[in-house]
Amino acid sequence: MLCLGIESTAHTFGVSLVDKGKIHSEERDSYTTESGGIIPRELAEHHTGVCVDLVEKAMVKKPDLVAFSQGPGIGHALRIGAVAARTVSLNCDVPLIGVNHCIAHLEIARRLTKLDDPIMLYVSGGNTQVIGFESGRYRVFGETLDIGVGNLLDAFGRSAGIGFPAGPEIERLARGGKYIEMPYSVKGMDVSFTGMLTKARALLKRHKLRDICFSLQETAFAMLVEVSERAVAHTGKEQLVLTGGVGANSRLQEMCRIMCEERGAEFGAVEKRYAVDNAAMIAHTGLVMYRSGCRTQNTAIKQRWRTDEVEVTWR
Ligand code: ATP
Ligand code: FE2
Repeated sequence: MLCLGIESTAHTFGVSLVDKGKIHSEERDSYTTESGGIIPRELAEHHTGVCVDLVEKAMVKKPDLVAFSQGPGIGHALRIGAVAARTVSLNCDVPLIGVNHCIAHLEIARRLTKLDDPIMLYVSGGNTQVIGFESGRYRVFGETLDIGVGNLLDAFGRSAGIGFPAGPEIERLARGGKYIEMPYSVKGMDVSFTGMLTKARALLKRHKLRDICFSLQETAFAMLVEVSERAVAHTGKEQLVLTGGVGANSRLQEMCRIMCEERGAEFGAVEKRYAVDNAAMIAHTGLVMYRSGCRTQNTAIKQRWRTDEVEVTWR
C-alpha cells in the first residue's frame, strides 16, 4: 500500500511517497528568513508557490492513501497542506487521513531506530518535550515551561552576532571552552531556559564567546539528560530516542549515550534528515494508522492539537 504524505505545519513544505518497507520519494522546500522569524503571509506564499511542483515530483506512483499533517501548527501553513492533500485524494479517488505532527516525529523515530517503546527526547527550535507511550496514548512527561532549547541557542546566537540557525555554530565554538556557572532550572520533569538566556547575554560583555557557548551547551544538555533519565526511570522503559533539530548536536548525543550506558538502557538518535520536519514521517504514520483501522471523519485543521489527545489504536 502506497501512502503520499504532506507536511506543512511550519517552515517546511514536504511531500513523500512511502510504503511499508521503503521511502520511494521525499521532497521538501523550506521558507527561510535572515532573522529566523516567520511572517505568516510570506509563509503561505512560499507554500502555495512550491506545493504543486513538490507534489508532482514526489508522486512517482499513484498512491492508495493520502496523509497530511492536520496539526498542531500555523493555520496559514496547515491549510495549504490540507487543500493539497484533499485535491490529490479527490483526483486519485483514495482516502485521506489526518496525522498529528508530533506523533509523526515519534513514529518515524521508532521505525528508524528500531527501538519499539522508547522515551523520546524531542528537541527542536519550538519544542522541547520528553514523551512516552502509556495507557493507549503518547504522554508528555515533561516539557519546557518557556522557550524550546533550539530557541535558546538561536536567541543567544542572534545577540552574539552568529547567523541563523545558531545551533551548529555554537556547537563548533563550544569545543575547547571553559565552564562558567549558568542557572540550572529543572522542575520535576520540566525545564526552563529563559534564565540561562538572560545570563548568557549578560556574559557577552566580559567573557569569551567559546566559554559561553560551552557553558550553555553543558548546562542546557545536562538538564535535558536529567529529565530524560527521570522519565526512563519512572516508566521503566530502558530505551531513549533523541530527535528534533537540536538532536543533531554531537555533544547532546554523547551525553544521552553515556547516561543510557550507565543504566543499561538502549539509545538511538534519529538522523538529521528525518529528525527535522519532513513528509516521510507523515506518510509513514498515516499508513500505520490506516492499516490499524483509523479513519479521519473531519479533515479540518487543528492548530492546537496536543500529542496526548490522540488515541493510539495502532500500538
Ligand atoms: P519543530 O516544528 O518540530 O518544532 P523546528 O522548526 O524548530 O521544528 P528543526 O529543524 O527541528 O525545526 O530544529 C531547528 C533547531 O535545531 C534550531 O534551533 C537550530 O539552531 C537547532 N540545531 C540544528 N543543528 C544543531 C546542532 N548541531 N546543535 C544544536 N542545535 C542545532
Ligand atoms: Fe516538527
